[in-house]
Amino acid sequence: MRVVTTGIQGTGMQAFTFDQSELAGIIAYLRNMNSFDRGSVKPGDADRGRAVFDGKGTCARCHRVGAQGSRVAPDLSDIGATRSAGSLLRSLTDPTSQMFPINRPVRAVTRDGKVINGRRLNEDTYTVQLVDDQERLVSLVKHDLREYTILTVSPMPSYRYTLTDAELADVVAYLLSLKGR
Ligand code: HEC
Repeated sequence: MRVVTTGIQGTGMQAFTFDQSELAGIIAYLRNMNSFDRGSVKPGDADRGRAVFDGKGTCARCHRVGAQGSRVAPDLSDIGATRSAGSLLRSLTDPTSQMFPINRPVRAVTRDGKVINGRRLNEDTYTVQLVDDQERLVSLVKHDLREYTILTVSPMPSYRYTLTDAELADVVAYLLSLKGR
């Protein structure tokens, strides 16, 4: 959204003025460009999916929906507005395959040896803001770090074998129903 609304200075990418719903539509389109595959996913039941989310799946141990859950992993309050059913199903069965670059987990080690594992909220050339594994907001100056690594494997467990196909379909239906706070 930032790139579309502010453009990229010094390049041909200009800034555009869109209202919130136009922007959401463009981002949804971009994020789903290679996964228009809703038809291939078995439709489930959103209410049962919510029960799995809060119960057996323990998703709220990492994710937040509305005012509930943890900030360790991305907020899912509007995930249904930006992702297709097929892509959500793959997030559950093979999380790494669907991981967006900004959601890659980071590991930072400060000069005095403190290790911080977290999820990025924002990053520029010199600094990074993240939520650590205790849900604390941390701001770091990269120059002050001994190590800064961006990991490529998702910390989310795969639910391929721990949820049944019916439960997975229900969770996808629930996620698709989440369209904004
Ligand atoms: C141990 C923590 C943990 C648990 C438990 C967990 N997740 Fe995740 N999940 C993550 C992390 C971290 C990410 C970000 C990295 C990635 O995209 O794989 C993520 C990413 C996602 C995404 C993609 C978000 C995006 O913006 O692209 C979805 C959808 C998702 N999880 C759904 C679920 C559901 C549904 C459950 C429960 C069935 C669940 N997760 C359980 C940690 C977790």
